[in-house]
Amino acid sequence: MKILLIGANGQLGSDLLKVSATHDVVGRTHRDFDVVDFAKVQEEVRRVQPQIIINTSAFHKVDLCETEVLPAFEVNAYGARNLALAAREVEAALVHFSTDYVFEGKSSRPYTEGDPPNPINAYGVSKLAGERLVHYLWPKSFVIRTSGLYGHAGSSGKGRNFVEMMLNKAKRGEPIRVVNDQRLTPTSTRELARKVMDLISTQYYGLYHVTSGGECSWFEFAQTIFELQGIKANLSATTAREFNAAAQRPPYSVLENARLQKLGMDDLQPWRQALAEYLSARGGRNG
Ligand SMILES: NC(=O)c1ccc[n+]([C@@H]2O[C@H](COP(=O)([O-])OP(=O)(O)OC[C@H]3O[C@@H](n4cnc5c(N)ncnc54)[C@H](OP(=O)(O)O)[C@@H]3O)[C@@H](O)[C@H]2O)c1
Repeated sequence: MKILLIGANGQLGSDLLKVSATHDVVGRTHRDFDVVDFAKVQEEVRRVQPQIIINTSAFHKVDLCETEVLPAFEVNAYGARNLALAAREVEAALVHFSTDYVFEGKSSRPYTEGDPPNPINAYGVSKLAGERLVHYLWPKSFVIRTSGLYGHAGSSGKGRNFVEMMLNKAKRGEPIRVVNDQRLTPTSTRELARKVMDLISTQYYGLYHVTSGGECSWFEFAQTIFELQGIKANLSATTAREFNAAAQRPPYSVLENARLQKLGMDDLQPWRQALAEYLSARGGRNG
């Protein structure tokens, strides 16, 4: 299959590049073109003539989205629209990613694809707009909601994922306060990338939840990182109210991979196991 992969040097993009090595993959980064520029998107898609377009690009600094609403919508909604139109023109399937933050978080059980979204921050609103535009413009699409991503590109490149942030803080001996009243499912981009490749070999288009198994709070996630690495960190639990981030986050945004389960395709590992694999692959290095 000929695949055009956008955001090829991001966390998820890098793992997608690795797991798709048997395909003809054209990887593109932000330097090559901006998804907001429709003429460039269209030109590239016409030139490459892919059968599948995978879009991992996003403006996902959640707090910044509260004030940078226009750029958030440009990338997360208008960018998604541009790719859907370009994919439609060449009849390529589109894979687009969304987030657990489309939910408000009042549920006491994992959210399925059938639950109505109701985002409580600008990031979530912009991602939901992107989902809707993709569905409306080009039904030959997979829209995949996921949660709490960490991957090796985050660690070696931008150092932006939660796992690396925790390890860096511990290395510097900083006191670390992490919220214990927001629950999610941390998800390894390697696991997610593998599942994306399984899905695109089907023609079961539509909306999917794809995360590792189980759930935890951000505090329990941090505790487990240190436990698995054998590090004694100065870690304490806090609340979202005390932490006082610019953007509200859903207190409970655990997703159930309900549609994958129906298809007999939900074989993602429990989050703790996937995290152990990530930590063991990254080795003992700190920072
Ligand atoms: N990270 C999470 O915890 C999380 C959770 C739920 C859902 N998601 C979703 O999962 C997807 C992948 O996330 P990720 O963590 O792999 O993100 P990432 O590591 O930041 O990768 C995104 C890639 O897209 C590129 N990009 C950003 N804006 C672009 C633009 N306007 N035009 C072209 N390329 C652009 C980035 O390049 P530059 O960095 O050079 O701009 C980067 O290479 C996103 O849709 C995100 O919303 C992420």
